[in-house]
Amino acid sequence: MESIQFYLPVRIVFGRDCVLQQAPGLFREQGQKALIVTGRFSAKKNGALDDVEQVLKQNQQTYVLFDQVESNPSMDCVYEGAALARQVQADFIIAIGGGSPMDAAKAIALLACQDIPKAQLFTQQPRGKTLPLICIPTTAGTGSEVTQYSVLTNDAQKTKTSLAAPCLFPQAALLDGKYMMRLPRTATIHTALDAFSHLVESALSKSASVWSKKLALKGIKMLQPYLSRLDASEWSLEDRDALLQTSLLGGVVIAQTSTTAVHLMGYPLTYFHHIDHGRANALLLCAYLEKVEKHEPASIQEILDALQLENLSQLNSIMDRLLGPKETISLEEAKQFASAAIQSPKSQSGIISLTQEDIENIYCRSFHLAFQRP
Ligand SMILES: [Fe+2]
Repeated sequence: MESIQFYLPVRIVFGRDCVLQQAPGLFREQGQKALIVTGRFSAKKNGALDDVEQVLKQNQQTYVLFDQVESNPSMDCVYEGAALARQVQADFIIAIGGGSPMDAAKAIALLACQDIPKAQLFTQQPRGKTLPLICIPTTAGTGSEVTQYSVLTNDAQKTKTSLAAPCLFPQAALLDGKYMMRLPRTATIHTALDAFSHLVESALSKSASVWSKKLALKGIKMLQPYLSRLDASEWSLEDRDALLQTSLLGGVVIAQTSTTAVHLMGYPLTYFHHIDHGRANALLLCAYLEKVEKHEPASIQEILDALQLENLSQLNSIMDRLLGPKETISLEEAKQFASAAIQSPKSQSGIISLTQEDIENIYCRSFHLAFQRP
């Protein structure tokens, strides 16, 4: 019998007004002073910050706002947040936002408790004490509210790198689709496709278990009614909740299997071309699936069945329409990115082994190619 491990030490609360109703007790359990970690704008517009502040005031807890998290958070940003957490003696952290604030908050929770030199942040396995963290996602894509990953910009390696350790799991995740009602069209598409990528990569991971794979396919089935209309301009609350559940399931399954080659290949595109994380994955996904199909057609069929599609070219057409014109990279870049990607164990974590040439081909098929000027 297959041996199965499934670890998810996050209390998940999902439902309308769950912050107002469930957070009072949850926040009180964590201590007296909170550091709220968020981006500059969205948490203020979508109502999540108002709800959190209301609960903290009602609880007579004090808090400090760190609203300096940019997209693809840098090392400087998380060290700055950690210094503030120490200075104000925060007892716990509340992260509000998409993947960037939640990922930054995990690193801040770690660095607030431990002196880790910048040079060792990506080389040393995180362990030990961290501040308790409560996550409130305001996009439906990252799944970071239920994972042990903190993905940060790694300037030394010129890519994005994941800190990954059980101590980085949040204590709790509070999910309410109402915070996504004003999410712009492009952000809705890119974040949902990030969730789709998590589900697909996890289903096709060497580390998938019977349970994680069933959950991943369930998540893909839940996304199916929305996939071809992610560019819709009107969304009901129920639709937003459904997308948020899909994203949550994506997080649950990558917490078990991690992501694979598609995410690995997407990181340099974000670093060098500033392509949004979810978009970078989505642009690469179909060429990757075509490669997998050549060796493992049954696994691709399971995904197509969940999507109620007959073949990958139907999926390709949907993705092309949602993503619009593709970015251009040079052949030289495709070669450089492939040469860096093949060094990472993640390049081999899917059910098929990839060569450097395979990776280069996936880049070349996914983008317009321009030849480098001499
Ligand atoms: Fe992702």
